[in-house]
Amino acid sequence: MSEIQIQKLAGVMGWPIAHSLSPQVHGFWLKRHGINGAYVPLAVSPGNFEKALRALPLLGFAGTNVTVPHKEAALKLVDEVDPVAERIGAVNTILVKDDGSLFGTNTDAYGFMENLKDHVPEWQPEAGPSVVLGAGGAARAVVASLVDAGVPEVRLVNRTLSRAQALIETIGGPISIYGWDDANALIAGANLVVNTTTLGMKGQPPMDLVLNNLLSGAVVTDIVYAPLLTPFLAQAKSCHFTTVDGLGMLLHQAVPGFARWFGTTPQVTDALRNHVLGVISGKDQNG
Ligand code: ATR
Repeated sequence: MSEIQIQKLAGVMGWPIAHSLSPQVHGFWLKRHGINGAYVPLAVSPGNFEKALRALPLLGFAGTNVTVPHKEAALKLVDEVDPVAERIGAVNTILVKDDGSLFGTNTDAYGFMENLKDHVPEWQPEAGPSVVLGAGGAARAVVASLVDAGVPEVRLVNRTLSRAQALIETIGGPISIYGWDDANALIAGANLVVNTTTLGMKGQPPMDLVLNNLLSGAVVTDIVYAPLLTPFLAQAKSCHFTTVDGLGMLLHQAVPGFARWFGTTPQVTDALRNHVLGVISGKDQNG
């Protein structure tokens, strides 16, 4: 009788899940490294999320990613949380430990900073203030990564001030909060401007801010990646600022999970990026 090879299994839980690009990212790496494994999309409704998490060890999963709307619930449900996820207030990566318990972490802050370093290695976090637009889940990870990188002042701008206030209470560090009306004045003199709002996303209104008087060497980045060139980044490019699009954050945040589940640290390469871009344009054509 031939020996049965155990497949390594991981996935992504979300509701809905069809839009997730993570299966394409991990599938690319599994093939590239010739790993006997699978990474599957798991459509899990909020009502079934806890039961689905608890089933992971029974099903032989090494772990899972967690996406909208489960990231905050995952923080409360896993058996152990690392300090990064605790601080961000959300878990996006879960590891099943040998004893069947669940360990939760968050790789979004890592993904944001790795993407910046990858595209603009010469960018100096400490050279001036960073402006973060938005105070939702993604902003929490971005702000945490900027504080940890040594940014001297994070100017957090959000339409709803109470949400920005809640963010600074959990993240901590040199963060000041402002309403949307102050945004244009705050952008002047910035060393980095990050859009974490949904403005500029396909089907959403464009960003209404003006990118004027940034520091020399300043970078403008958007975590929106559909479209890749948002109106905000197009404006930045036309003003000759260095721009970084949002796709790289999605790719880089996947690295630590893959490494832990499948035992090989993968690379974010142009080939991966082109593969995912091909999938995005295919999805666009299919509606
Ligand atoms: P995510 O988890 O991806 O960050 P989210 O938590 O829904 O998504 O956050 C969306 C962000 O976009 C919020 O900062 C939101 O501002 P509010 O907190 O005031 O809702 C911001 N946003 C959405 N539409 C906006 C608009 N028309 N103008 C300004 N900000 C907007």
